[in-house]
Order: sequence, then structure tokens, then C-alpha cells
Amino acid sequence: MKILSKNNDTIELLASPDEELLERGDYLVIEDNGRKLLVQVIDIEYADLPGILEDTLRELSSEDVKKISMIDPYSVGSLLAKLREARLIIAKFRGVLINGELRNDVLWLPSRLNSRIYKASPSLIVELSKSCGRRVILMGEFMGDWFTINAESLDGRLTIITGKKEMGKSHLAKLLVTSLVEYGARVVVFDINGEYKGLSLKIDGSESELSERLMVLVPGENFKVSIEEASLKTLLDILRYVYDTPSSSLREFSRIWYLVERTYKKVTLKGLIEAVSKTQMNESIREALLSRLLSLESLEFFDDGEPVSLEELFRDLEYGGALIIDLSRSLPHGRRVVVEYVLSRLSSMLKNSLPVFLLAEEAHLYLRDTYWDDLVTRMRHIGIFPIFVTNQPDMIPDSVYRQADNIFLFNFTNDSDLDYLAKASRVDAETVKRIVKALPQRKCLVIGRVVNDLPIVVKVRELMLKTMGETKLFFTSIREQ
Ligand SMILES: Nc1ncnc2c1ncn2[C@@H]1O[C@H](COP(=O)(O)OP(=O)(O)O)[C@@H](O)[C@H]1O
Ligand SMILES: [Mg+2]
Repeated sequence: MKILSKNNDTIELLASPDEELLERGDYLVIEDNGRKLLVQVIDIEYADLPGILEDTLRELSSEDVKKISMIDPYSVGSLLAKLREARLIIAKFRGVLINGELRNDVLWLPSRLNSRIYKASPSLIVELSKSCGRRVILMGEFMGDWFTINAESLDGRLTIITGKKEMGKSHLAKLLVTSLVEYGARVVVFDINGEYKGLSLKIDGSESELSERLMVLVPGENFKVSIEEASLKTLLDILRYVYDTPSSSLREFSRIWYLVERTYKKVTLKGLIEAVSKTQMNESIREALLSRLLSLESLEFFDDGEPVSLEELFRDLEYGGALIIDLSRSLPHGRRVVVEYVLSRLSSMLKNSLPVFLLAEEAHLYLRDTYWDDLVTRMRHIGIFPIFVTNQPDMIPDSVYRQADNIFLFNFTNDSDLDYLAKASRVDAETVKRIVKALPQRKCLVIGRVVNDLPIVVKVRELMLKTMGETKLFFTSIREQ
């Protein structure tokens, strides 16, 4: 390989076709006089040499007369053929290696003629991409070697996992959740497809070591909460954001709440409904409140008889564990009610307790607009560290991407998705576009603090647990029956 050109941070290398096979995301070292430059391969193309078109055309027109032997006394044919077959490797500058440290503030270029170019050893890249910490998570393979990240680099951070459907996002999310739990962290999962409960089983169906630390909560079944614990503020939020209640009705609702509190000493949903129906008020407001409270009642999520306390559940997970909130059976507004409740409880509980990780799949389906910014600012400060998983990247606001510390990018082919991601991520647009477009299933581009800002393409490892991500298929189902 030889250096052809450098344009800003793009470096083009010429290579012959029989050189070692490269993959997008591989690292190369360009060494000259003891100094080393580190570049990352993002694509490969045919070299566009001057006169190639004319040459190829000539070749094409002479194909018919090939049978007649050509006279080539100096045997330049093979050399020309080789030139025409030259490949152009497009790579990105990642830094200059000085005393084992990667620096991108140093101005130095290797010689075009004399430098030696070779594949970087995986251990060098692993070393350079290491973030601080000692809680190792084995993530998968990179350049033929194992690749690990540290649990600490997710701690206190905002992480996004995105990519097309079926590419392995939830699989990676499960890997992160189980590793965090193993290290004693507490995780709350908003499980929109009901697939995380499988983590308590091994592939052969027996119980996994984690089964005792995973708690699956199904709203309306084993997850019912009391109105009182929910508090007036949460209820007002639910009425305002989920049920679009006008502010005049909200004011009336607060009045009723205090009234019930004074009269019965305990606020219950039944008490509220009764009070709304009996107290004197504007008829249209009564109707508005009553229909909404009855709708809340029909969710069967609020139960003032035998409520579950989120605080107690958390106490049980003191040494690490995951609360998996199965939203797969809830209706859209039911999901939003549950999420409003959980987030508001978490915010007040965490003021004097250890932080939690919040894994939210397809959060745009149940997270109200004002929560996005709240999650990345206020809630992060009180100790809720979100991991968002989505196949619709444009549903996550720009501002959230800009704040993201870690991004795991799986394949996207749609150009508008790629444009959106390229604009917002922590790495140059070309790297995102060229690498991500060509990623096969189960491979992802890791960007951000987890990899010390050195983009790495990782093939995510398997999990020995039931991941339940499979799409239920018609034809295989009838075969099983
Ligand atoms: N690294 C992996 N190793 C083994 N199986 C995987 C891996 N990644 C994904 N899968 C499997 O591929 C399927 C789709 O993955 P999933 O994570 O559910 O995709 P997504 O959430 O991106 O739609 C699932 O059956 C999952 O178990
Ligand atoms: Mg998924």
C-alpha cells in the first residue's frame, strides 16, 4: 500500500488487489522513521487513474480479436493490467501515536514513498480505546480478537442504541442490562415487546443465575399502585399530558383532591370518582373529569386495595437487579400512564438513594415531549441514566443526540436516517455514512466515551440466555403445531 493523498482528515491509499483483505472499520498503521499514524478504513473503491476509461474501452473493442495473439515484447501488459486493477482505500485520520498515546494535535505526515503501511494489531486499538474502569463487559469481536468495554463508561452517561429492525439492537441492550446487573447495578426496563423476561432463562430452558434478580412487572396484573403514592402532581401530569385535560378542569381536580384528602384522610381513585360526581361544579368540567377518571380506572393499574410499592421493589434489588416493566400488553395511553407514574416515582425516590439505569425501547411511543430534555438534564443529575433503543432515530430529538455520550449504531440503509445520524453524532459524517450503510446483522459501530472516542466496529457476541427477539412467523408456527 502507498499513500496517495490527504484531504482534511481523509487519507487515500493505493493498494494492489492481492493485498490482505480489509473490512470497514479496520485500523491501519502508517509507519515512517519510527513514528506512527493511525487511520481507520471506511471504504474501498477502484482507483480512478487518468486514461482508465480510454484504456478499458480499447480493451473492450479488442476483445473480439483476442484470439489472435498480441505481440508484447517487453511484457508491459501485466504491469498495465495491475495498474488498472489498483484499489483505492479511503481512510480517516485518527491520530499520531507518540509514546503509546494517541494525539491529534500533532502536525506530522509520513512519507509517501518510504512509509510502511500495515494492519494495526487489535491489542493496540483495544488499549487505545480503553476507558477508565475495571468492570469489564465482554462485548464481542473486533479485528479477529475479543473486544471489551467498561461498565463505568455507561455510568452517569446517556447511551443510544439505534439501527434498522432485526439488526441486533435489543440483543445488545440485553447484553448491557445483564452485565450491569451482574455488577450490582439497578436497571429499570421499559419493555415494549415483552422480550426481556426471557433473560431469566438459559437457552436450554433452565433458570439462569440472574433469574432471582430480574422482576417482571405487568401493569394491571402484578403491578398495581395506589393513587396516594402516585401523588397529586403525577396525577395532574397524567391528566394533562396523557388525557389532554384543559387547565380549568385540572384546577377543579386539585380542589377535589384536597377535598377528598380532608374528608377521608386517604385519597383513593374510588373516592375521587365519587367526589367528582357529587361535588358541585360546572357540568362540562364534571363530565370531562369523570370520563378521564373512569378511563384511568378501567386500566386497572391503580388499585388502592393491595398496591405494589416501587420503593419496596427497589429495596429488594439492593445488590443489583432489573425491574422489567412489560408494556407489551398495555394500550398506548395505558403505557403512557405507567411511564408517567414510574418516572415521577423514580425522580422523587432517587433523591436519597443510589442511581438507576433506565433502558427505554422505542421511547417515543410513550415518552412525552417534555421528558426528553428532562431526562438528559435534571433526571440525569438525580441519578437516572438512560439507554435509549430505537429503530426510528429521527424520533429522538436532535438535542438528545448532541448530549449522547455513547452511541451504538447498527445498520441503516435509508439515506435520510443516515443524514440525521451523521449530523448529530460525535464522529465525522463520512465515517457514519460509509461504515453504517454496509454493516451486516449483529455488527455495530461504537462511538463515544465507551471507546475513548475511537470508533470501533464490533461483532456483538451471543448471549447464553433466552433473548426472545425472534419475530413470530406464520409459516414456522404452523410447522411446529
Ligand atoms: N450478536 C447476536 N448473537 C446472536 N443472536 C443475535 C445477535 N444479535 C441479534 N441476534 C438475534 O437476531 C434477532 C434480532 O435481533 P434483535 O436484537 O431482536 O433485533 P432488533 O432489536 O434490532 O430488532 C433475534 O432473534 C436475536 O436473538
Ligand atoms: Mg428490538
